[in-house]
Amino acid sequence: MTETRRKRILSGMRSTGRLHLGNFVGALENWVKMQGEYENFHLVADWHVLTTDAESVREILPNTLEMVRDWLAAGIDPAASPMFRQSQIKEHAELHLIFSMLITQARLERNPTLKEQIRDLRDKLKARELDEPQEGEVSDAGLITYGHLGYPVLQAADILLYKGDVVPVGEDQLPHVEITREIARRFNRYYGDVFLEPEPHVLAETKFSRLPGPDGRRMSKSLGNTIYLSDSEEETGRRIMSMFTDPQKVRKHDPGRPEICNVFTYHEKFNPEEAPQIEKDCRSGALGCVACKKNCTAKLNAYLRPMRERRAQYDDRRVLEVLADGETRARAVATETMREVHEAMRVG
Ligand code: TRP
Repeated sequence: MTETRRKRILSGMRSTGRLHLGNFVGALENWVKMQGEYENFHLVADWHVLTTDAESVREILPNTLEMVRDWLAAGIDPAASPMFRQSQIKEHAELHLIFSMLITQARLERNPTLKEQIRDLRDKLKARELDEPQEGEVSDAGLITYGHLGYPVLQAADILLYKGDVVPVGEDQLPHVEITREIARRFNRYYGDVFLEPEPHVLAETKFSRLPGPDGRRMSKSLGNTIYLSDSEEETGRRIMSMFTDPQKVRKHDPGRPEICNVFTYHEKFNPEEAPQIEKDCRSGALGCVACKKNCTAKLNAYLRPMRERRAQYDDRRVLEVLADGETRARAVATETMREVHEAMRVG
């Protein structure tokens, strides 16, 4: 294969609904930055949601629409980068089925993300107060579904269907990319060279990639400490004003320690020009926390304003149009890959 094409990125997120600043800084911002350099395919993993939550399907579509709205708001250009739902391209299911024959159960049971997901699943069951036996009474194998075990196999199909050269992922997803590479190798060995082994691109762990929420813990939906890209300016202000700061800086003129202050982390990220001066004035006691937070709110809202304006332009109908267009383009690639798969296997 001597195609000369721009390297292709396949990135994906499960449909989780509106995105918060932590998602933006940890992933989405990188997607936007990589747009010029690569050809980008952005996948909504809506079937993957079923692995941990097969009953609650009502939220999947609304969550998809909210999430894609945030992708668009953040500046992903739908003309350049197709955005599409896994569930709308049935080739994912076919390739997943074929791949499921190319990996052992034992290998999938060793996948470290499985244990974590099992823990989440147990928590979720408990929270719903279903009549769930106590931990320990049901084995892991008795709790997870067949599809859940195959989570990384479906992800391998997502990636290889588009022949993604690069997969931007957080550290936690590396085991899935490794499984993808193993499946690609085995497929090629059995049937002939169809797939390239994709390279993981680990999203740099900067001091911001685990952005603290207003309470100082890592921002996360389940902790309820989020600032959403779609929050109003007033809501954002309330969140910033409630942020934890240096507990030793009680009065305005007390000297503060910016290195342990979350508001200062936000200044470094969203207000980098003023950050050095703010650092000095906090330490000297010239700057009080209230003024500092007001400034932080203004800067963060200014940073988010273009995104929020763009977001407002996309109602459900327009988001669905973006998806339909992305799905047409993704499907063309997917059917071509499946043609090669059928040819190599002489099946299908
Ligand atoms: N498992 C990924 C996550 O939870 C989501 C995902 C599904 C994905 N398919 C993908 C990521 C393909 C990258 C490529 O974050």
